[in-house]
Amino acid sequence: MSDLKRALGEAVEAAFAAVGLPAELGRVTPSDRPDLADFQSNGALAAAKRVGKNPRELAAAVAARLEGDPRLAAVEIAGPGFINLKLAEPALADRANQIAADPRVGAELVPQPRRVLVDYGGPNVAKPMHVGHLRSSILGESLKRLYRFRGDSVVGDAHFGDWGYQMGLLIGAVTDEDPAIAAEVAALNARADLTPADLASLEPAAFAGVELADLDRLYPEAAAKGKADPAYRDRARKLTAELQARRPGAYLLWRRFAKVTKVALERDFHALGVDFDLWKGESDVDHLIEPMVADLDAKGLLVDDQGARIVRVSREGDKRELPPLLVVSSEGSAMYGTTDLATILDRRQGFDPQLVIYAVDQRQADHFEIVFRAACLAGYAAEGQLQHVGFGTMNGTDGKPFKTREGGVLKLNDLIRMTRDKARERLHEAGLGEDLPPEEFEDIAAKVAVAALKFADLQNFRGTSYVFDLDRFTSFEGKTGPYLLYQAVRVKSLLRRADQEAKEGEGAAAGPVAVAEPAERDLVLTLDAFDSALTEAYDRYAPNAVAEHAYRLAQSFSRFYAACPILAAEPAVRASRLTLAQTTLRQLEQALDLLGIAVPERM
Ligand code: ARG
Repeated sequence: MSDLKRALGEAVEAAFAAVGLPAELGRVTPSDRPDLADFQSNGALAAAKRVGKNPRELAAAVAARLEGDPRLAAVEIAGPGFINLKLAEPALADRANQIAADPRVGAELVPQPRRVLVDYGGPNVAKPMHVGHLRSSILGESLKRLYRFRGDSVVGDAHFGDWGYQMGLLIGAVTDEDPAIAAEVAALNARADLTPADLASLEPAAFAGVELADLDRLYPEAAAKGKADPAYRDRARKLTAELQARRPGAYLLWRRFAKVTKVALERDFHALGVDFDLWKGESDVDHLIEPMVADLDAKGLLVDDQGARIVRVSREGDKRELPPLLVVSSEGSAMYGTTDLATILDRRQGFDPQLVIYAVDQRQADHFEIVFRAACLAGYAAEGQLQHVGFGTMNGTDGKPFKTREGGVLKLNDLIRMTRDKARERLHEAGLGEDLPPEEFEDIAAKVAVAALKFADLQNFRGTSYVFDLDRFTSFEGKTGPYLLYQAVRVKSLLRRADQEAKEGEGAAAGPVAVAEPAERDLVLTLDAFDSALTEAYDRYAPNAVAEHAYRLAQSFSRFYAACPILAAEPAVRASRLTLAQTTLRQLEQALDLLGIAVPERM
């Protein structure tokens, strides 16, 4: 089942070919003059240049081929040689009925589904999540849903940053503060009887009091001390090495850190409508690093460089020199890139993705380029199989990455609370949801908050940075998430009323679509454009195309609703318009779901 735009494009391409012109010139686009036509083809102008003929004459020859196509009400030549196409009402009605009957509301499946892994979120133990993690979570969640909806088999992985130097810092800080914990670590370290199964399951009572708040409090201090004091840093490195060697005390204390962080993070993510299928950590690939280093060495890729071991990845023709992948530091430890490379191997042994999407800050572009090149050199991945999908920053009004008023990083948890407060305020201002039970009102406020944050983020192309403006994001007017929720809820309430009337025998139920009014035409054409929007979003890793479609659909419906009475129309017209309303709602909810936004029943 193809959309009208594509079907028409194929017909125009065939017409170009039939008059001896290159078929690909027949591409159609939505008309610049919707008052005159639905679609247009500019191909005759390009063709004229190529073959040195008059563009209007070529356009006329192509148009003649299209005469008699039952889908077209008019084919006209305009200006220097544009071909304007106006669809016939029955063709529009057919397409609307098709979309209405389609469980996928007009969206196609990819012809060849792939196994796709989305690496997103990327939170870290003890380091609070900042706005970069927020963007990654919002974008990654949307890509996961979009790829899945189009038929791929998709796994989303949080890639938890739970290994490395930061962990040594924390072990040091926590044991320094609490002698009982220090004693327990020492006692456990001395035990030789603990099996790997014990290490995976024991929860020593002495560690049970360590909470996320402690880590939040201790980490910044420890990080600062580590920077300033070489002895402190060395000790943190030693503790990191102990952890990585699985000394029981260090290891079990670290497990407590990872656990309390994960619980809190999952709660925050869930509140944002972000849920991972896999929660693997950097620690999970630690055992792969040694054999991997040996393999890189055997393949002749590892080079000694002032005590460190690196893989050179620069290529002839590079515009600038790319640094090598640092595999083993001069102190003998594995680095961020080492873990990423080992993770590629781990994923291959597991889900074996054909495509891996890394939704990570644009500022890590070099890191990924280096890792990907190393992976290709080592034969761990094929060219193009690993994709860094970068994004810009969420800025404050000063144009710099957003900070709290106190100058700190904004924690995700605080951001969610702040946005919910604002959402409640907005709902009260608009007099919405006030007569509903308090629990339902809270649920609505939560949904408005998520819609505000996600839509504000996803409506921009991911590469662009944007300014954090909670007032604007939460407004019920303009191009915002709350506006779209409000529109969807309005349609829901209209449909409820229609249902009630139909049940009481006071009005027709939904029935076949017929298209007559310009606003109906426009609405059907907008519904028809869903698949193109999804295709663009999918191909460019760019959910903003879906956001744009959702907004256009809401606007188109709004115009239709203003111009075309629904409930009061005569039965056949009412039935047709109800189907249009139902279909609009389904498609709008689907599009919003792909952005990770849920619509309340009422508000
Ligand atoms: N934890 C990292 C950070 O906070 C992001 C991880 C991104 N994913 C990856 N495979 N490197 O910057």
